[in-house]
Amino acid sequence: MDLWRRALDPWGQDVLIGVSWDLMWAAIIVAAAFLIGHAVWIKTRPSEAHEATEVPAGIPERIQRHSLASRVFHWTMSASMLVLLVTAFVPVLGLQFAWVEIHWIAGVVLTATIIYHIIHSIGWQDFWSMFQIGFSEGVAHLKHIMSPKAPAPKAGKYPFDHRMFHHANVVVGLGVIATGVLMMVRIDTPFWTPNPYMLADSTWGVVYVIHGLCGVSLILLTASHIYFALRPEKMWITWSMIRGWVDRDHYLAHHDPAKWVVTNGAAPPSVTEGTPRAAETAEAEGASPEARSASE
Ligand code: HEM
Repeated sequence: MDLWRRALDPWGQDVLIGVSWDLMWAAIIVAAAFLIGHAVWIKTRPSEAHEATEVPAGIPERIQRHSLASRVFHWTMSASMLVLLVTAFVPVLGLQFAWVEIHWIAGVVLTATIIYHIIHSIGWQDFWSMFQIGFSEGVAHLKHIMSPKAPAPKAGKYPFDHRMFHHANVVVGLGVIATGVLMMVRIDTPFWTPNPYMLADSTWGVVYVIHGLCGVSLILLTASHIYFALRPEKMWITWSMIRGWVDRDHYLAHHDPAKWVVTNGAAPPSVTEGTPRAAETAEAEGASPEARSASE
């Protein structure tokens, strides 16, 4: 299996020109194997242990999970990502069409949505609820995967696996955007006169390889994301990306009210009782419960 494509430049030098399409096939096969394997594994897995949940006072029936702005961002970004994947790989799979213009326009839409998302998440969202590793939660999550008897850890707003997925997307997403914007310099767009000589051919080759590697990784990430979003037991999360809220039962079953503080105007009992952990959490998160539940 090749890792990249090479060709002779006009001066007869052997240079990189892009990622090998074998990797695209490998990503498609790995994604299909993972999805089928996971579906079979879940079917054969014994039912999970559930802890009894105490209902704290002040939790509303519907809990706002995604603001309208976050949802519009998510679906715009998803649409541009799907257009990018289709325009990048369908011609390689054999269906030829004029893909470059649709591709870079979708790339500009993706870039704009990500710039908006970065500003929105730093300025208006709870940035650190996403940007943390949560090592002990990760270990508990792994134990739960190995044995259904080990209870799933209760997360803050974003569970461990969601955070890891987001971190991977940050890396490959920024990689594909940075290289994609550079690659636009070479092609005909309304923004500037094309300049294929801005970088040496060998450097362009590296840029194309990084773009391709990030693009191929996005086949895996997007396929698994859509698969999990459509799984029956995860549909409540997907609905929250459409309706904006989760119901109280799912919130209490999957989230720790001390980590994702939600109230209906009243302080959560753990905070009024003054337990050190609850007080620390509220303080570490830098906002009153009222402010945090209204912040998104
Ligand atoms: C899901 C995200 C993306 C995927 C999967 C993807 C994939 C690809 C692939 C496989 C190629 C062909 C590279 C080659 O021939 O070696 C390509 C080319 C290109 N992409 Fe992307 N890309 C993505 C995002 C972007 C973004 C965000 C931009 C711009 C902001 C962009 C702009 C371009 C440009 C300008 C080309 C070069 C076209 C040419 O040289 O003819 N791409 N992309």
